[in-house]
Amino acid sequence: MIKYFPIFGALVVISLASVAILQAELNQFTQLELGTEVRTWGRTVGGKKEYLKACADNDNSNKCIHWSDEKGNVISSTSRSRVFNNGSLIIYSFQKADVGGYFSPDERERVVENSDGTKWAVAGPEISVVLKE
Ligand SMILES: *[C@@H]1O[C@H](CO)[C@@H](O)[C@H](O)[C@H]1NC(C)=O
Repeated sequence: MIKYFPIFGALVVISLASVAILQAELNQFTQLELGTEVRTWGRTVGGKKEYLKACADNDNSNKCIHWSDEKGNVISSTSRSRVFNNGSLIIYSFQKADVGGYFSPDERERVVENSDGTKWAVAGPEISVVLKE
């Protein structure tokens, strides 16, 4: 399927996702935003998808403090990240292991149908987080 993505106002067939790039610094506080409705963040690191959910401030269950797989099994057991109910993802001390593509399952691909019946899809946004050299 061919996908069309509006980039800077023009309609261009270019890639499978609209990707923003963020340069994070080692050991630094890093805040990511994809919209205030986001309650679950996902990331692809080392070819694996991991998820982290927004919870009440006093809720320290695994899914709120550790990146976990779709079934809730902990993958990266570090408490360096937290998702807030305003949609922000905060990584308190950015590490090499955090380099990856960040997205939200709450903000996935949107399929738009035109009045003539044709459809086009806008991929969900993704933030590619790289390490600042
Ligand atoms: C969301 O809430 C957290 C925790 O209170 C805060 O650190 C962060 O700056 C907030 N994000 C925005 C976009 O205001």
